[in-house]
Amino acid sequence: MHLLLDIALLLFLYMSACSAATTETILAGQALTVNDKLVSRNGRYALGFFETSSKSSGNTNNWYLGIWFNTIPKFTYLVILNRSTKSIIWSTQANIKRNSTTAMLLSSGNLVLTDSSNTTEILWQSFDHPTDTFFPDAKLGWDKLTGLNRHIVSWKNSIDPATGGYRYELDHSGVNQLFVGPLSSSAPYWYSGPWNGKYFDLVPEMARDIIWRSKFVDMGHEKYYTYSLVQAKRITRHVIDVSGQVRVFVWSERSQDWQKVFAQPRSPCDVYSVCGPYTICNDNVALNCNCMKGFTITSPKDWELEDRTGGCSRKTLLDCISNKSTTHTTDNFYPVPCVGLPRNAAKVEVAKSLNECAQFCLNNCSCTAYSFSNGGCSIWHNELLNIRQLQCDGSTNSNGETLYLRLSAKDIQSLENNRKRIVIGVATGIGICALGLFALILLVMIWRNNRKSSGRILNDALGCNGIIAFRHTDLHRATKNFTEKLGRGSFGSVFKGLINDSVSIAVKRLDGAYQGEKQFRAEVSSIGAVQHINLVKLVGFCCEGSRRLLVYEYMPNLSLDVHLFQNNSTMLNRTARYQIALGVARGLAYLHESCRDCIIHCDIKPENILLDASFLPKIADFGM
Ligand SMILES: *[C@@H]1O[C@H](CO)[C@@H](O)[C@H](O)[C@H]1NC(C)=O
Ligand SMILES: *[C@@H]1O[C@H](CO)[C@@H](O)[C@H](O)[C@H]1NC(C)=O
Ligand SMILES: *[C@@H]1O[C@H](CO)[C@@H](O)[C@H](O)[C@H]1NC(C)=O
Ligand SMILES: *[C@@H]1O[C@H](CO)[C@@H](O)[C@H](O)[C@H]1NC(C)=O
Ligand SMILES: *[C@@H]1O[C@H](CO)[C@@H](O)[C@H](O)[C@H]1NC(C)=O
Repeated sequence: MHLLLDIALLLFLYMSACSAATTETILAGQALTVNDKLVSRNGRYALGFFETSSKSSGNTNNWYLGIWFNTIPKFTYLVILNRSTKSIIWSTQANIKRNSTTAMLLSSGNLVLTDSSNTTEILWQSFDHPTDTFFPDAKLGWDKLTGLNRHIVSWKNSIDPATGGYRYELDHSGVNQLFVGPLSSSAPYWYSGPWNGKYFDLVPEMARDIIWRSKFVDMGHEKYYTYSLVQAKRITRHVIDVSGQVRVFVWSERSQDWQKVFAQPRSPCDVYSVCGPYTICNDNVALNCNCMKGFTITSPKDWELEDRTGGCSRKTLLDCISNKSTTHTTDNFYPVPCVGLPRNAAKVEVAKSLNECAQFCLNNCSCTAYSFSNGGCSIWHNELLNIRQLQCDGSTNSNGETLYLRLSAKDIQSLENNRKRIVIGVATGIGICALGLFALILLVMIWRNNRKSSGRILNDALGCNGIIAFRHTDLHRATKNFTEKLGRGSFGSVFKGLINDSVSIAVKRLDGAYQGEKQFRAEVSSIGAVQHINLVKLVGFCCEGSRRLLVYEYMPNLSLDVHLFQNNSTMLNRTARYQIALGVARGLAYLHESCRDCIIHCDIKPENILLDASFLPKIADFGM
């Protein structure tokens, strides 16, 4: 009988019966409701129903039956048994013709179906059907007798556990190694290297005896790789990510977050088609996919959920396609300098020059790009995949080459107009910067002369945007040990402070270490770059250990809500209110349209509109 089929069917009948059962077993005929979960005996794993949702769309009503870590605050799904929406109901497909089956969630996280009379006989187990997570003590490999191939498959996107684009499994060719490859083709893009008795050659991280112990078994009808935790208390995660990388994490109690131990392949751009067609992959910083010039993202919604398989599409169809003529096509080529070329090139021996190569490509409508180097002409047909940005600084000899991309005449025209505009823009920009720099030097000189004695804090850490990196002790002193509280924002409390005994500041102490130092610094520098008379100015920040603080200019008239809703404050007349509304609109218009990286505020309310000494409004709380 299909035990879990019953569970799913009963789910919607038993919605109201919310007894919060937390046992490790469930018997045939018993129901598991949405509020129930099975918890393994050691308390580490739980099984139950949950929903996923994305931050942007918010609403999905797909319900999943899954296993997750029960002991850590960050919800992390491990096994998704299968989609169970209101229409699709799942079963283990285990053909069990008895009515005394029991489902038990073991301490290893394995959900097993057994017969109540003999619990050693396993009828079905979740370890045989892994999704994107490789559990400690589970097996990655096959059973030659039954043909079962336990392999790991990535999710479709960051919220949808449906089958995604990549698989992680044991090599079939006879070499004792693991590989990662696209689900749709047989060509792996990463191999672990052969097993050497202790670890796979290219992954020495797996030999970390303090955290886990690896084992390769080739015995009887079984061949598999497995690992076990050395310290039972450690919580680790070994997954294949949506972006096709195998990643291993360890849970850190101190930072209450996952810490990456390693990722393979090391370079995210090595993953086959990770950014989809007509993109340039750049992993100099972090994985970064950009559309080629003349192309736009095919599906921004999927892209945001990290599913980039759709890649980018042409803005304008090629003339040879829309006009169905290759003889008089107006298509032309646009150079993409300094890239790593895709491997599947067709060599054209007859073309002996750049021009001949271009002409050869133009003659066939399916040819989308060419490249000419070392006296050889290479052309590519149809979708361009796996193009990678390389660093070309002129001096060093990099392997970067120039790809000539076929575009419609219209797109080339608009790109060239753009380039002219940029040249003019850059020239103007340089001029303004030089002027600004000169003014700044002048100001600093004046300022130094005026305040030689009291500028210690400001002096030693003036950043490039004029943002100051404060030490925590300085802010501690400036705010008198965080005593004078001004209010509470969405991310933390705000305190009044005084630096150099004269300049008033507002210090926002962010709750918890909710992000890493690098990300925090990047965010601070982008907020610091946003400046407008109707936006609160960021003066500085502090980032020490897990402490995150932001320092803003102090607003003597506090926030707008004080004046609107509290009795004992200044009554605002009609003109003042009108001016405030206008100022807020100006600030918002700037955030939305005029700054380089547009910012959507999402939380405009009187509490976030601050008033300076002359009741000039300034928008607060943007950008984090
Ligand atoms: C299975 O259920 C049927 C009907 O409820 C019952 O007659 C039978 O004895 C049960 N079999 C076992 C092995 O428990
Ligand atoms: C329980 O099942 C195992 C595995 O199938 C079998 O070897 C064993 O003999 C069974 N025990 C009993 C008491 O039936
Ligand atoms: C879930 O099961 C259904 C029916 O067996 C199948 O069509 C579907 O592809 C499965 N979904 C996943 C994510 O495995
Ligand atoms: C087809 O080609 C002609 C001339 O070569 C051009 O005027 C016309 O705009 C083209 N049509 C399209 C749809 O591009
Ligand atoms: C264009 O190139 C493709 C791929 O090489 C080939 O199959 C096709 O026949 C060519 N078309 C013409 C018109 O030469």
